[in-house]
Amino acid sequence: MDALLHAVKAASDPTRLRILVVLASSELSVGQICTVLGQSQPRVSRHLKILADAGLLDRHAEGTSAYYRRARGGLGRQVYDALVELIDPHDRVIEADSERLSAVRAERAHRAAEYFEEVAGRWDELRERHVADWYVEQAMMRAVADIEIADLLDIGTGTGRMLELFAGRIQRGLGIDASQKMLTVARSRLSGSGIVNCAVRPGDAHDLGVGREAFDVALIHHVLHFLDEPARAVAQAADALRPGGRLLIVDFAPHQLEALRIEDAHVWLGFDDHEVSTWCSESGLDQRETVHLVPTEAQGTDALTVTLWVAERPGDHTIDDLAL
Ligand SMILES: C[S@@+](CC[C@H](N)C(=O)[O-])C[C@H]1O[C@@H](n2cnc3c(N)ncnc32)[C@H](O)[C@@H]1O
Repeated sequence: MDALLHAVKAASDPTRLRILVVLASSELSVGQICTVLGQSQPRVSRHLKILADAGLLDRHAEGTSAYYRRARGGLGRQVYDALVELIDPHDRVIEADSERLSAVRAERAHRAAEYFEEVAGRWDELRERHVADWYVEQAMMRAVADIEIADLLDIGTGTGRMLELFAGRIQRGLGIDASQKMLTVARSRLSGSGIVNCAVRPGDAHDLGVGREAFDVALIHHVLHFLDEPARAVAQAADALRPGGRLLIVDFAPHQLEALRIEDAHVWLGFDDHEVSTWCSESGLDQRETVHLVPTEAQGTDALTVTLWVAERPGDHTIDDLAL
C-alpha cells in the first residue's frame, strides 16, 4: 500500500504526467526531456528524481549525462502503464510534446542513419566485437531446427549476413533495411556468394509494409537497440508471421557502456528478458526460449552478453484441438 501511494503521489503533477507519456516509448537524456517539455534543466531534474524515487522511472548515469526510461518492471511499471493508458493522447499539451518528441527522435534517427552509411563497409568486423558470430549463429539455427522455412524476413538486414546464413535452409529470404549503403553491401554479398533465393529492399522496421502472415521466421538481429520504438518493431514482426511462425530477436542484455550511444548511435543500453517477453506477449506471441550468450574472457572486459529471445505465433487451432 505504501509503495502504491508513493507512486501515485509522485505522478500527481501535470509536468510529471507529461514526462510519463514522453518516456512511454523512448529512453531520453535529461537534455532531450527538457527540449520536449520546454522547461529548464533544474525543474525537469527535480521532477525526474521524484518519479525515479517512486519506482516509476529507471535512471542510467555515466559521467555528466543521465538517461531516463519507463521502469522495467515492478509496481512502479504497473502504475506507470495504468496512468499512461488514462491520458488523452489528443490533449493539446500532450500533442505539442509529442511533436517536439518526434523532432528529437528524427534528429537521433538521422545520426543513426549517418552512422550506418559510414560503417556499412566495416560492419561485419564491428559486429564480432561482443560475442563471436558463430556462437550466436549456432544458437539461432538451433532455435528453428525443427521447422520448415519457406519464407524468412530479416529486419534490419545490414550487410545481409543473416540471409547468407539461412539461405540454404529456406525457400525465399527478404531483407529490409533503412540504409541504402548497407543494402548495397548486402546485395553485393548475396551475389558474390551466389545466393539467388534472397533479396533485399529499403524499409523501416517500425512500419514494415511486407504484408500480414507472410513469413515463417522473422529475425531482428542487433537492430532493436537502434530503434526509437522497439516494441512497435516487435509488433510489426509478429504481424508478418504466419501462425506457428517464429520470431528470433538477438540483442544485448542490459549494460552500462554509455559510450555506445555516442560512438555507435545506440539508443537503448540493452534489454532485459522481462521487457522483451512483454513486447512479444503484447504482440500475440508465446515466448519459447531465452538463451544468454556470455562473452569469453578473451573478448575483453567491454564485451557484452548477447541474448537470443525466441517467440512463436500460436498456430491455428483445429476442431480436434478444441474437443475436450
Ligand atoms: C547493427 S546493424 C545489424 C545488421 C544485421 N542485422 C547484422 O546483425 O549484421 C543494424 C541495422 O539496422 C538498420 N536499421 C536501423 N534502424 C532501422 C529502421 N528503423 N528500419 C530498418 N532498418 C534499420 C541499420 O541500417 C543497420 O543496417
